[in-house]
Amino acid sequence: MVVVATTIEETGTAISDARRRGLSLGLVPTMGALHAGHASLMSRARRETGFVVVSIFVNPTQFGPHEDLSRYPRPFEKDVALCDAESADLVFHPRPELMYPPAFKTYVEVHELQDMLEGASRPGHFRGVATVVLKLFSIIQPEFAYFGQKDAQQVRVIQQMVRDLNVPVKLVVCPTIREADGLALSSRNQYLSVEERKNAVVIFNALSDIRKRVEAGERNVPALIRAAQERIDKVADARLDYLAIVDHDTLQPLQTLTGRALVAIAVFLGRTRLIDNILLEIPS
Ligand code: PAJ
Repeated sequence: MVVVATTIEETGTAISDARRRGLSLGLVPTMGALHAGHASLMSRARRETGFVVVSIFVNPTQFGPHEDLSRYPRPFEKDVALCDAESADLVFHPRPELMYPPAFKTYVEVHELQDMLEGASRPGHFRGVATVVLKLFSIIQPEFAYFGQKDAQQVRVIQQMVRDLNVPVKLVVCPTIREADGLALSSRNQYLSVEERKNAVVIFNALSDIRKRVEAGERNVPALIRAAQERIDKVADARLDYLAIVDHDTLQPLQTLTGRALVAIAVFLGRTRLIDNILLEIPS
């Protein structure tokens, strides 16, 4: 049975024990409400490392004042059962006061990369993400950490932080797991009504349509964005927050497609905001 640790001391003991046994450490950071996307990260960590730690922590500093922090799902027992089924070794489940005691004063900011796309719609979000992920890296000290391509900008921000601050961890990026109709799995999908869930497929369809047009030779970014916007406008309940085609490394907008491009999208379905993305490689 997977062990649950809620304090730094318990976690430290379990981790030193694993190290003494010569096991490499893999960390899968999550906010819980676990699904098959999270499970895919755990199973990859299980294959590649000797001791798998899953952190479950709904990180308050990455939520804006009017976001869903208080109603974010927290089905803790079900989550632990899933970690157990994936043969994880340890669940780290700290209380918010442990991660952010009253005297907390230090935040990590990854300038520029934190400001565009998600960062523009959710000011302060990546400051919270970078801070909590660095804290988790410091507490667990994993050799490997597993992240989903689903949150492409998050991956880019953490890569940059690891590089800039010489954090001794290797990042492993795992593909996006999708429902049968293409909707990317997300803990927030459970907010959707039956009707919104049906309509949510427009996100994946818009991305797939962009891929198809690019494969057919289209390189004009504004034209690609216009077509996707029109597709989304036709769907009841769906409102485009942003759709951007950016350079994969700098996240700066492209006018003409070249090299490695990230197509990133955020759509509101009713009150629920969902994100997705695809990568495009344009041969030169
Ligand atoms: P959370 O949204 O719980 O996601 C945890 C990890 O699972 C992230 O690396 C995310 O990209 C990955 N993931 C989510 N849905 C996925 C899917 N459909 N396919 C593949 N991977 C998927 O991301 C966070 O939590 C937080 O920001 C965190 C990094 C834990 C910091 O608080």
